[in-house]
Amino acid sequence: MTQNTRSFQALFSEAGEFVEARLQELAEMLPVPAPRRLRESMIYSLTAGGKRLRPILCLKAAEVFGMSWDVSIPMALGFEMIHTASLIHDDLPAMDNDVLRRGKATNHVLFGESLAILAGDALMAWAFEYPLSALSKSNVPAERICEAMRILANSLGPFGICGGQVLDTDPESMETGSDFPFKVAARKTAVLIAACVESGAVLGGADQAAANAFRTYGNHLGLAFQMVDDILDVTSSAEELGKTPGKDATQNKKTFVSLFGLEETRWLAHNETEKGINALRTIEGDTGFFAALSENLVERTR
Ligand code: IPE
Ligand code: IPE
Ligand code: MG
Ligand code: MG
Ligand code: MG
Repeated sequence: MTQNTRSFQALFSEAGEFVEARLQELAEMLPVPAPRRLRESMIYSLTAGGKRLRPILCLKAAEVFGMSWDVSIPMALGFEMIHTASLIHDDLPAMDNDVLRRGKATNHVLFGESLAILAGDALMAWAFEYPLSALSKSNVPAERICEAMRILANSLGPFGICGGQVLDTDPESMETGSDFPFKVAARKTAVLIAACVESGAVLGGADQAAANAFRTYGNHLGLAFQMVDDILDVTSSAEELGKTPGKDATQNKKTFVSLFGLEETRWLAHNETEKGINALRTIEGDTGFFAALSENLVERTR
């Protein structure tokens, strides 16, 4: 059966189950020399569930260029480690001060702040060490591994999550302009989502033009994703989201919804979705999964 004849949901679930199984295996092999409590704290958050969107994006982008999931999975799991670490830190009292994540108690509620900070740091470091170790034993050319890892590194740093989280949480960094939510979301959310598809494509052997097109797609998808996250914070429930709704208003966050309202934010999310899908058109290969993914995510309820 070709990809085109199978439903998007079936394809997404298939990739998600693959990621989940490999994550469980990885959790079991986390080196024993790591202190037991650190291992427990890292594994607790890493295996707590979630949509697994970022690793799925990475696997599927590499697949467009003929790479099997067995080869690209370490890179994909590196992205889930970065994402999970960013959520552990995002929930800390010093940041969003949240007690519920993926339907469970947040890491610091269970393990304390010190361990939560260190588990996040350790996951970020492992996100480099694990894919580098695994891929260096594969047949993937070293220059592709280097470039894919450079993209992963960039997504976490001052131009990515760290930069975005500063704009989101530091009162002195807040701006009043209507482009501010775009600046925040571009860095805290979209750079990572774009990195997943771009680095997957690079690892799989995409040329520069295709890698760039995937990055553009990912940046638009990432903006749409954060817009919907801001909408769901207002419209959804803790049961559905697995996290506390209403947090953005309580904390006076400058979100898309607080600035533009629900209706306009919905329109903006559809607009970014369309721009992302347009960026796929130049890529040779089957990108139908990505177009369907964008259309699905803009209507998501969790
Ligand atoms: C939450 O990401 C953080 C944002 C960037 C909005 P997800 O909604 O992908 O969280 P999980 O991985 O499914 O828990
Ligand atoms: C977080 O944005 C983005 C990250 C980099 C973790 P939010 O603070 O809106 O994410 P949630 O709503 O807590 O998942
Ligand atoms: Mg936050
Ligand atoms: Mg938060
Ligand atoms: Mg949110």
